[in-house]
Amino acid sequence: MNAFTFYSPTLFAFGEGAETQTGELIRRFGGHHALLVYGGGSVKKNGAYDAVTNALRDADITWAELAGVQPNPRSGLVYQGIDLCQRAGVDFLLAIGGGSAIDTAKAIAFGVPYEGDFWDIFTGKAKLERCMPIGAVLTIAAAGSEGSNSCVITQENGNMKWGSPKSDLIRPRFAVLNPRYTCTLPAFQTACGAVDMFSHICERYFSNTPDVALTDRLCEALLKTVVDAAPRALANPNDIAARSDLMWTSTLAHNNSVGVGRDQDWASHQIEHELSAFYDCAHGAGLAVVIPAWMEYVMPRNVSRFARFAVNVFGVEMDYACPERTAKEGIRRLRTFFHELGMPSTLAEVGGREEDIPAILAHRSRKPNAFPFGGLVKIGPDDMAAILRLCVK
Ligand code: NZQ
Ligand code: ZN
Repeated sequence: MNAFTFYSPTLFAFGEGAETQTGELIRRFGGHHALLVYGGGSVKKNGAYDAVTNALRDADITWAELAGVQPNPRSGLVYQGIDLCQRAGVDFLLAIGGGSAIDTAKAIAFGVPYEGDFWDIFTGKAKLERCMPIGAVLTIAAAGSEGSNSCVITQENGNMKWGSPKSDLIRPRFAVLNPRYTCTLPAFQTACGAVDMFSHICERYFSNTPDVALTDRLCEALLKTVVDAAPRALANPNDIAARSDLMWTSTLAHNNSVGVGRDQDWASHQIEHELSAFYDCAHGAGLAVVIPAWMEYVMPRNVSRFARFAVNVFGVEMDYACPERTAKEGIRRLRTFFHELGMPSTLAEVGGREEDIPAILAHRSRKPNAFPFGGLVKIGPDDMAAILRLCVK
């Protein structure tokens, strides 16, 4: 196991009625006048907005609002939010929704105290040194941003979808997790969320670091929970037990408690961010296309790890004479699992075209430290092109 530091100061309030604590939690973490950040209206339809604003009133918290966050959130709303915070004297950011609302709130939170363009922090021109406090009321189990130390924004100037530098400063002070609010998710978003959390665990699980038995087993427990709970949530959207498991799994999958002490991969995410930037596809849908292709491409370089995945996550019988056969069967079962969730499996299904591959590579090359990326196997431009071609079939 590698040496590590782990600082995850988020307070999690989980369960039925947890949102009634929101006002008190803002107060506890020093807020008086909040900026509510949310998306296109789902939180108004499912009651989360009303419940949260009632809780704010009860705690004498006043607020301003920034609505209209789009999935794959854009820089334009971040600039608006920074301006609004400065004009309205906001002292706390509260996101209500999913990764897109939370990531917008995070970027605003470190953009406000920085005097230049917040995007400088993404490009590395400036360091992330200060950040306003953030809270999250989660309504979709997916990205794990409610406990994570980064955010992902698309800079409209150049259409760059980038992750911010990782910093414990931007972990939310608190996250309110009431699984009941996730019952209104369309099946597609439930499935995208399941794929995203599954992928966050895989990005940590597929590692060359030896002697990480505990986190290996924790990862497998989380992966098996997704395999078990996601189909149940799709079959019965009001299955609160399945929704609860998914919600807490999404948080554990990405607050890094199962990723400490081990090298991580993240190649599939790097490739998917290009697909989201090019085709504006849902992050989870893009990952459902990329992950099996990435697995197929890198598996021969670490057959035993993929065989273990097959056996411990999908219950494949180990073929000791030919572990590669076991590894391949695991990837096949994963494809079937994603397919049964209703997820796409080809580039075309997320709006992509094989002839775009050179442009996607060129776009990637414009990022600092564009290549190589990935931990299990280093991915250069030719490897990325090969993985994308595997997404075509
Ligand atoms: O906009 P509204 O109307 O709220 O609708 C949203 C949106 O259309 C809808 N939704 C959310 N909760 C709902 C609901 N609809 C009905 N009932 C509910 N309870 O779902 C749609 C997707 O929302 P979004 O916030 O985009 O989903 P998600 O949580 O999957 O976030 C995706 C974003 O997070 C980034 C992704 O790249 C993507 O931009 N990620 C952020 C990470 C982080 N900060 O740590 C890590 C991840 O790897 C990921 O990259
Ligand atoms: Zn993700």
